[in-house]
Amino acid sequence: MTVATDIGIDLGSSKTVIFSSSKVILEQPSVVTVDAETWEPVYYGDKAKQTLGRTPESLVCVHPIEHGVIADYGIAEMMLKNYMQQAFGSRVVRPRIMATLPAGLTELQHHSLTNVMESGGGRNISIIEGPLAVAFGLGIDFSIPHGTLIVDIGAGSTDIAVISLGGIAVSDSFKTASYDFDAQIVRYVRKEYNIEIGDLTAEQIKIQVGAVVDRDIEVAITAKGRNVFTGLPESFEITSSEVYEAICETADTICNAVRQVLLRTDPDLVADITQDGLYLTGGGALIYGMAERLAEYTGIPVKMLEDPVYSVVRGAAVALQKPELLKNVDYQLRSIRELTIK
Ligand SMILES: Nc1ncnc2c1ncn2[C@@H]1O[C@H](COP(=O)(O)OP(=O)(O)OP(=O)(O)O)[C@@H](O)[C@H]1O
Ligand SMILES: [Mg+2]
Repeated sequence: MTVATDIGIDLGSSKTVIFSSSKVILEQPSVVTVDAETWEPVYYGDKAKQTLGRTPESLVCVHPIEHGVIADYGIAEMMLKNYMQQAFGSRVVRPRIMATLPAGLTELQHHSLTNVMESGGGRNISIIEGPLAVAFGLGIDFSIPHGTLIVDIGAGSTDIAVISLGGIAVSDSFKTASYDFDAQIVRYVRKEYNIEIGDLTAEQIKIQVGAVVDRDIEVAITAKGRNVFTGLPESFEITSSEVYEAICETADTICNAVRQVLLRTDPDLVADITQDGLYLTGGGALIYGMAERLAEYTGIPVKMLEDPVYSVVRGAAVALQKPELLKNVDYQLRSIRELTIK
């Protein structure tokens, strides 16, 4: 059976999401565990993520997407093929794909993503900048000159863009994002407790007790690591104010990146943004207090999107349904040779 579908794909630094017919059809970490000698894939996605920091010497964990762009082409291709098969089974599919990339990248990076999508089984492949996809998903009127600011705090990149008339007026893809919160937590625990923790533990601490403003009620979590002197396992308790201390500078680095984009933006567009508020999205924006801190830092009201983890991929799927709007902004659905998944 041949199934032709329209799908949005977000190959994110932390996870890959495939979206079709108004729903998420696959969501898996962008991680592949490979054999250290042959580089053959052993685990994909959830299973691969579980092996992070726990692999024997014979295996290596690879993140093929870094800071929102393809860092390892071969692994990204294998991963996408695997995910397309998981999503569509053995059915022969010829999906039209709208894939997303951070704003302001080179033609070569666009081409590289197109090639990966092509070998993954796509039919017509188009690339859209993430913040523009979010604007599509929000249903913003592209026919009027009005500034809209989108801030997407992902795992490996923070994408900031001012959109007007369906195009990107000013943008920046900034390499400080939610992974940096994890890294700061690892550093803090090592310094304050002499305990080494893994990235997954740091992520759990961030999600459960992290904060970038003072929490109304202090919370704490017990976690495990390895004492750096004895090498033995050790538990410790960490509170939300300690995590705040560890990560608030990184939060301000992100806020400052937004301010820098505003400084490069036409004053009339800034006036629109100040009046409407900026749109905040991305999994990294879910940390407790991010909207509040960003509003305080920029002096602009912040509207948190309802589906921060899916807004980009959902917007990409919406954009695919509205090619006429994309044509207005110099996007074209490029027809690439038809492929099938074997
Ligand atoms: N409730 C939460 N609180 C804090 N952080 C969270 C929460 N949920 C997810 N995150 C963080 O959000 C990040 C993932 O966000 P997202 O899915 O937007 O990233 P991505 O699209 O894969 O990355 P990028 O856009 O940088 O390529 C991870 O670092 C994760 O730890
Ligand atoms: Mg993202």
